[in-house]
Amino acid sequence: MSYEEGIERNCVMHTLLTESPKKAAQCIAQGEIVAFPTETVYGLGANVFDERALRKIFVAKKRPPDNPLIAHIAEFADIDLLARRVPRSAEKFIEEFFPGPLTVVLAKRQSVPLIATAGLPTIGIRMPHHPVALAFLKACDVPLSAPSANLSGTPSPTTWRSVAADLDGRISCILKGGHTNVGLESTVVDCTGPVPRVLRSGAVTLEQLRDVIPSTRVAAQGKAGPPKSPGMKYRHYSPRARVIIVSSPRRIGSATNAAYIGMEVVQGISEFRLHRICSSVEKYAHELFDFFRLCDNAHVSVIYCQSVVPKGLGLALMDRMKRASH
Ligand code: TXA
Ligand code: MG
Repeated sequence: MSYEEGIERNCVMHTLLTESPKKAAQCIAQGEIVAFPTETVYGLGANVFDERALRKIFVAKKRPPDNPLIAHIAEFADIDLLARRVPRSAEKFIEEFFPGPLTVVLAKRQSVPLIATAGLPTIGIRMPHHPVALAFLKACDVPLSAPSANLSGTPSPTTWRSVAADLDGRISCILKGGHTNVGLESTVVDCTGPVPRVLRSGAVTLEQLRDVIPSTRVAAQGKAGPPKSPGMKYRHYSPRARVIIVSSPRRIGSATNAAYIGMEVVQGISEFRLHRICSSVEKYAHELFDFFRLCDNAHVSVIYCQSVVPKGLGLALMDRMKRASH
């Protein structure tokens, strides 16, 4: 029996599996950590104000201690618990995109423990759109710090089975939900400076942000000095297989022990161990991380990914593919 089949039959789980937001919230109240679905990817949550529980997140994920966590809220009033002030730019983004796949970075309140923000004076805040996430957050009655619910460096989990594959036995509970809708992580926008800066592209597109605040720009990467978004310096989203981005399926080398994902069909597609043709950029984003994990389970050695136009959601998709290919 494969691990996946085992999970399916609930017989290799060392972690509580539940569909009850209330049961999962009881674990949070007891200082435990819980994986839960959101519209982007699954998160691994702990009470923002519980330092011991927050430490468990870093241990379970093997997360570098200098990588800050995003705080998840269900009520607009909770922003005041976390942020010292909300500049006009953030107010506008919040009005337009909360609840949804956008994280705003604001100056944090002193009452938020430094471990939640990895020592930074700022905090990322987001209100997920997913009904199970919202029900869970409401049942917890406290904001939850939550990174993606994977081992650091692996592709973010878009199904509870992917969470279990990485974290079974390392966390107390998984709140079950379906496949996440978007499949890529939230857009992170820093609102602490004179103009909003996108630190990580995501499902809320640069174009959408600029419709609200035209001066919004993408933060320059790789400049000297400490990275503004520490998480972006780490190896990310990477399957064990080598990832090669190709502009056209015609540029693919050998299909031996290889996989292909893209929007166009490749000649001789049946020779690939695994392949997935996506009919839109949205579907491609939805499938990418899941496909990476499938390829690793099948011990594929190379994954060819067809590039997309880096516009709209395509910008985030290309970002994740480039990081995976490094
Ligand atoms: O969609 C998402 O954002 C998912 C779901 C669970 O909400 N969460 C997620 O968390 O992707 P994580 O920890 O895997 O990625 C958070 C990113 C990292 O790149 C981190 O450096 C950045 O957000 N970040 C968090 N707080 C920050 C802050 N105060 N300043 C700058 N960057 C921050
Ligand atoms: Mg992550």
